[in-house]
Amino acid sequence: MSTLRAKPKYYLTTPLYYTNGLPHIGHTYSTIVADVIRRYKRMRGFDVFMTTGTDEHGVNVERSAKKAGKSPQEYSTAIASRWRQLWDELGIPGDEFIRTTDERHHRTVQWLFKRCRENGYIEKGHYTGQYCVHDNAYVVDAGPGDACPDCGRPTETVTEENYFFKLSEFQQKLLDFYAANPDFIRPESRRNEVLSFVQGGLRNLSITRTTIRWGIPVPGEAPHVFYVWFDALIGYLSAVGGPEFDERGLWPADLHMVGKEIIRFHAVYWPAFLMAADLPLPKQIWAHGWLLFDSEKMSKSRGNAVRPRPIVSVLGIGPLRYYLLREIVFGQDGSFSYDALVSRYNSDLANGLGNLASRTLTMIGRYFGGEIPKPPGYGVLGNEPGSADFASEALTRITQLYDKFSFSLALEGIWEQVAAIDKYLTVEKPWTLAEQPENRERLAKVLYTAAEGLRIVTALAHPVLPQSTEKIWRQLGQTTPLAGVQMDQLSWGQLKPGTKIGKLEGIFPRVEKSEAIERIESMEQEQSKAAEAAAVTPASAPAVAAQAKIGIEDFAKIEMRVGLVKSAERVAGADKLLQLQVDIGDEVRQIVAGLALTYKPEDLVGRKVVVVTNLQPRKLRGVESNGMIVAASAGPDGSPVLAGFLEDVPVGARLK
Ligand code: MSP
Repeated sequence: MSTLRAKPKYYLTTPLYYTNGLPHIGHTYSTIVADVIRRYKRMRGFDVFMTTGTDEHGVNVERSAKKAGKSPQEYSTAIASRWRQLWDELGIPGDEFIRTTDERHHRTVQWLFKRCRENGYIEKGHYTGQYCVHDNAYVVDAGPGDACPDCGRPTETVTEENYFFKLSEFQQKLLDFYAANPDFIRPESRRNEVLSFVQGGLRNLSITRTTIRWGIPVPGEAPHVFYVWFDALIGYLSAVGGPEFDERGLWPADLHMVGKEIIRFHAVYWPAFLMAADLPLPKQIWAHGWLLFDSEKMSKSRGNAVRPRPIVSVLGIGPLRYYLLREIVFGQDGSFSYDALVSRYNSDLANGLGNLASRTLTMIGRYFGGEIPKPPGYGVLGNEPGSADFASEALTRITQLYDKFSFSLALEGIWEQVAAIDKYLTVEKPWTLAEQPENRERLAKVLYTAAEGLRIVTALAHPVLPQSTEKIWRQLGQTTPLAGVQMDQLSWGQLKPGTKIGKLEGIFPRVEKSEAIERIESMEQEQSKAAEAAAVTPASAPAVAAQAKIGIEDFAKIEMRVGLVKSAERVAGADKLLQLQVDIGDEVRQIVAGLALTYKPEDLVGRKVVVVTNLQPRKLRGVESNGMIVAASAGPDGSPVLAGFLEDVPVGARLK
């Protein structure tokens, strides 16, 4: 019995990521795109559910675990928690996180195998072939010593007794299915690629292994374990009920979002497995392109992987989401560059949407006491000529682009509106109208129009910039969450005159490009070293446990002294940073510290703090920092709490 729902359901998935490495922004891109779709579909009235997770079996994980001196289970558990933690941190967690090591998943794989077998689609046989360990795939038509055509690594010759899935019997069934469901594989180029692959004939597929230990056992058939792809794909179903999928009412999936290199597994093997088991097929597989770095696919093995955290700590997650969706034509490969990322940030977010929100709302604050003005004719005549049309035209056009997953065009369209409203303000000069009492009505009309336009573009941009658009929404005085707004119910004129606007705060402070890049890159260097070292520590364990113990001589290298804060002020454009002058006994140092969320500048003056005094000086937001203040990440949300002393201590005293 299917669950009765008030709204239609939409079930989407990200790939289940391998646990032999940590996420980079290529993986982050897939999860971000899925999250944008999730948020968009919610605003279109769907009851949306998203699964992500980890693909943990196979030789690669087994080998990585061995290298780390761990059991595969222990190793994989630690890495899986890193993936999960990152998605939580970036605000893109799955509604369900499936691990292929979960018991519920084992049960589902074994059940699906049994169904395929009972339906006559499984047989035993021998297989000798070239196998690519990295891609977990046999390479058809390769001879001993040949390289894998996908990754270029040498293949290995493997002979095994296996269970085979009779894929060859599905050639025509698949072709008929593709013909009846032209949107099953997207984009068109991938559909053509899959079609010609299937038209070329399908060979039976070996789906169990005896050469591997680390896998799901084939019941009663030890030492057979399932081939990783017969295992991982089924995770999408295990996540939403497995054999009892009917009870949750989420299967079949509406969308599997994947990278282009795994389209064949999803568009050929997976529907064939489901057909053989007599189960419903997913509605759509969308293969996006690759993020390239210096023209090569970004990947751990190529050593060109960029991690998301440094970008997020310097610019925020919203700007990374915006950049990836705006700059990369969805479905095609796109180059990643820090330069383009920061340029987009400054031009479209700081100078674009952020500036529009701040100038519009500041003027409403200044000229109308912080209340949305009432334009003449409000509720009767409509508003500024063209505005209502603009809104309905933009809403239709942009939602159509979102529906097609043409994200870069949708964002381009939204930002054309941002520019149009901005230009309207420049032309109408409300600051001049404000000085002319006879133009009070005109002023009300201009600022109402700008605010209402801002409200609509803010709603349209929400799936891509969820947090910052919520902030603008509240600044516009809206009290119900933007995430709950339905796009088809948005229309011009809903902004009520008299609404009190919220507290104004900068959304996207401008950054100095070279300095921002420098900071991201230096964090990237620090973190990539630490990340691999810490990879096998479960997220909840203290970080120090991951690193080797240090000798006293290492600790002695760090010079820490008691300092006295002489003055403190905020750093312009950075809401966390304070610029301090700190007396450390024999000199006064300038230190930039991320304390502003916990401490007001005036509360710090005269306070004794612990200062690391022998760090290399560095610049933060263009301000030189010559030392570091010691604090515990112990406040709410990990905000800093200063280290201090209960007894009085002399300034300059060394800590040992
Ligand atoms: N475990 C399989 C998927 C099984 S799904 C049942 C796998 N895992 S993976 O960790 O290698 O992740 C692959 C996915 O990460 C790609 O399909 C893609 O979505 C994303 N990306 C990894 N590198 C990428 C880029 N350089 N660019 C864009 N996406 C990339 O394959």
